[in-house]
Amino acid sequence: VNITLREIDRENYRAIGKLKVADNQQRFVATNPWSMVQSKYEPDLTPLGVYDGDTPVGFVMYCDEDYGVMGRAWSIWRVMIDQTQQGRGYGRAAMEALLARLRANTTTHTGIFISFVPENIAARNLYTSLGFEDTGMVEDGELVFRLPLTKSSP
Ligand SMILES: CC(C)(COP(=O)(O)OP(=O)(O)OC[C@H]1O[C@@H](n2cnc3c(N)ncnc32)[C@H](O)[C@@H]1OP(=O)(O)O)[C@@H](O)C(=O)NCCC(=O)NCCS
Repeated sequence: VNITLREIDRENYRAIGKLKVADNQQRFVATNPWSMVQSKYEPDLTPLGVYDGDTPVGFVMYCDEDYGVMGRAWSIWRVMIDQTQQGRGYGRAAMEALLARLRANTTTHTGIFISFVPENIAARNLYTSLGFEDTGMVEDGELVFRLPLTKSSP
């Protein structure tokens, strides 16, 4: 698995917009076209295509959240692998690449949040295995998990 995360641009947005989850997973994640619309108008969002070599296989999107005096945190809003490409290690590899990217900029961020509907066992297993912990919070019916980030030394 040779996964990279690529910026969305005029060359690839159509291909990324065509990627879909299975019918019974649609309540787990917004569609990619909608997520790309959100990223166009919400400047704190970063959408990225997940690629195996030159093949688009998925999509992720994260937010740079500013909680004022509480500091800043990353929040992963979207993770999806196309229904035809699931179960091959792409989801895990995409998350590892995304966490590496976010960790590389930890100086002002205290953690990484991610949330999912309680029925999404695959998401729970994946995120827990990567070190995310249950915060006990529930937002819009979704369980909120968090991966703490330690400040890198100066
Ligand atoms: C969740 C998702 C991104 C995982 O992607 P994937 O490429 O299929 O996952 P991987 O093959 O990399 O598997 C990673 C881990 O996910 C978990 N997982 C994946 N499929 C699973 C399933 N059917 N049942 C239980 N756990 C599963 C396992 O913990 C697995 O760990 P392993 O590496 O030890 O096997 C993908 O299933 C998906 O797009 N789902 C629909 C959208 C969604 O739910 N997104 C998350 C919203 S918060």
